[in-house]
Amino acid sequence: MEKSRILSGIKPTGRLHIGNYFAMMRPAIQWQEKGEALYFIADYHALTTLRDPAKLREYSGLVARDFLACGLDPSKAVLFRQSDVPSVTELAWLLSTVTPMGLLERCHAYKDYLARGIPPSHGLFAYPVLMAADILIYDSDIVPVGRDQKQHIEVTRDIAVKMNETFGEIFKLPEPSILPDVAAIPGLDGQKMSKSYDNTVELFLEEKALKKKIMGIVTDSTPVESPKDPAHSSILALYRLFASAPEVSQMENEFASGGVGYGDFKKRLFAAIWEYLAPMRARRAGMDPGHVEEVLQAGARRANQLAAQTMARVRRAVGL
Ligand code: TYM
Repeated sequence: MEKSRILSGIKPTGRLHIGNYFAMMRPAIQWQEKGEALYFIADYHALTTLRDPAKLREYSGLVARDFLACGLDPSKAVLFRQSDVPSVTELAWLLSTVTPMGLLERCHAYKDYLARGIPPSHGLFAYPVLMAADILIYDSDIVPVGRDQKQHIEVTRDIAVKMNETFGEIFKLPEPSILPDVAAIPGLDGQKMSKSYDNTVELFLEEKALKKKIMGIVTDSTPVESPKDPAHSSILALYRLFASAPEVSQMENEFASGGVGYGDFKKRLFAAIWEYLAPMRARRAGMDPGHVEEVLQAGARRANQLAAQTMARVRRAVGL
């Protein structure tokens, strides 16, 4: 039986955060053992919101380095920059010729921009079509993502069906893989952790900066001695990701019984995060930038090989 192909991407619009790690990077790293995995830095997509060339280059390098530090193994998975495979934009064009406007008008990211009064660019409107091209050009079977990307995978499937109906069976239909426990990780203010809400906890902060962020988590004004609401606490939600099961039960019990203040809980959360990330921090500190670039270039060669096979098939099918 052929190995399944696993694919996902991450935008280099800032430093990687805990939401990215638990929803996408950690599962992606686990998937590398189970099939042919391809992961890329979505720099074309980042350009829909980031217009600072120096920053784009810096963040792209950091995402690659951090992904490797977190355990991505380049002997098992392919890591590359989206823009090193320019044929993906050709496929995006071909897909856009069959993509109904209405399908894109229904997409949340686009509607959010409209709701916030920001005039969306054509790139933002067409964002899901490029994402479909990313997925379909590598004949991907499984796409590990957080819940916010679910709709985009559905759009990808719709576009693939349209292409297949129009031009014959060109594409297989990918499935999202969304882990329920980490589908939407809250940020410091309880909303979804997101660079656009400025509520992120980055993976590789300095000790002091991390402590400051954690101590700054927004809490209600329940006094120390009183029981606290476990359901809406980002402290507890984040602690569950980093602490052991007995540590989590202890904190849950102390939330219920009262007698421990939020400050104490935050200190424990900080310590758990700091310890959890220690091996990755060590790997990151020892990483040679030359090695990162070599990994990306080898990744680009493999990704281009696969993309070329698909593009030959697609060009033939549409009549080019
Ligand atoms: P991006 O860069 O916004 O996010 C990368 C991954 O992290 C997940 N994520 C979260 N999951 C749970 N809780 C959170 N608070 C949280 N914040 C981020 C996202 O769901 C995502 O899986 N459009 C994609 C990049 C992309 C892509 C693709 C992904 C481009 N082409 C093709 C898969 C396949 C994005 O903006 O991810």
